[in-house]
Amino acid sequence: MLKKILIGELTLGMVVEKMDRSWLEHPFLTNRKKITTQAHIERLREYNITELYINTDMGLDVDAGPDGPGPEPDPMIEVADTLAPTPDGASPLPVNLAAPLKEEIPFHVEIEAAKVAQKEAHTVVNEVLHNVRMGKSIESGKAVKAVNHMIDSIFRNMDALSSLTRIKGYDEYTFVHSVNVCVLSLTLGRQLGLDREELQSLGIGAMLHDAGKMKVPPAILNKPGKLTDVEFAEMKKHALYSAEVLERTEGITDEAKAVAMQHHERFGGTGYPDGLKGEAISRCAQIAAIADTYDAMTTTRVYSRPMTPPEGIRRIFELSKTDFNPVFAQRFIQCLGIYPIGTTVQLDTSEIGIVVSVNHDKVLRPKVMLVCKDERRRMPVPIEVDLTDPAAPDSPKFRRTIARPVDPAQFAIEVDLYLPKVAL
Ligand SMILES: [Fe+2]
Repeated sequence: MLKKILIGELTLGMVVEKMDRSWLEHPFLTNRKKITTQAHIERLREYNITELYINTDMGLDVDAGPDGPGPEPDPMIEVADTLAPTPDGASPLPVNLAAPLKEEIPFHVEIEAAKVAQKEAHTVVNEVLHNVRMGKSIESGKAVKAVNHMIDSIFRNMDALSSLTRIKGYDEYTFVHSVNVCVLSLTLGRQLGLDREELQSLGIGAMLHDAGKMKVPPAILNKPGKLTDVEFAEMKKHALYSAEVLERTEGITDEAKAVAMQHHERFGGTGYPDGLKGEAISRCAQIAAIADTYDAMTTTRVYSRPMTPPEGIRRIFELSKTDFNPVFAQRFIQCLGIYPIGTTVQLDTSEIGIVVSVNHDKVLRPKVMLVCKDERRRMPVPIEVDLTDPAAPDSPKFRRTIARPVDPAQFAIEVDLYLPKVAL
């Protein structure tokens, strides 16, 4: 039976089924949790959870709380609780969710090295795509080196490199998109605790996932409007073509080839080329599919206006119920935030600003550079504020909260002025 209780009534041995917050506002991926240590209770308090529902069939009731210290904590329960109740019944994966996410280097320091790594990747991808177009073989050495430099950057600071993916070059779509998908995949892969070897395969596969598009006739590739069935069938072959390119290249792992081959497979089984379902899809390809979809949706294309980053994030959340591994999709949202870096937002104070830093524990509470006092008045000097700041000392309420994302053009805000410059 579900019973609503106050946080003060929560004791060891109870099973929490639901909280009074969306998972977006706290770092616990799912709401069900067996309380096995006092630290669990303290963490819930830290996130201002005040009311919750316990399941008395699965754990202790309010009147039956133990007087003693309770059962020994089992570290696996935490991982299993986090992974088990996925909406599509996905099996728990060997994902190291305990991977520490401490940043070794602050964002503003890492951003310069991140730009160098991004530029190197652009150069390598440009060359590789050119060679594929010309029917030449490709050499993996430079690509592996570029991927390793990106992995290094993400390990030093997970936000710097991914913040650079917000620049979308329309003219060079495939080449910029390839690097963006690589960066976003590596960022998610790191968050999921993949080891270095797996990250390398993921990075190479993601970087070259669309190389096969160079073999699709340009008239189809760049056609404005809807493709005919025949054209779409040809377009779909690009995954196979990409895998063939990698197959002919020395030093490429099977996992990297799987990313190229399977990046359009969908967790629910509706993708192509083979209609694979769930865990039959390689784990790295599941990751790349999310990164690919997000970057494509938020990029200007011949035939559609781009979604804003918050719209893209919302869509990824919706698709997590059908198309993606739901745990990976939720982690992706935690990586980028509900309001990714560069999003213009209006706060409940009427102030308008730009998200300049993501809070991975409280994704609705990033840091914001305030630019306008309200719709009509500019700030004399931009001010950075932290949305986790309380309304008053010891108050459980927050001083500022995001009310809505807004179009920066409507307020003549040049977002790039407030963010690190990108070298393309
Ligand atoms: Fe693709």
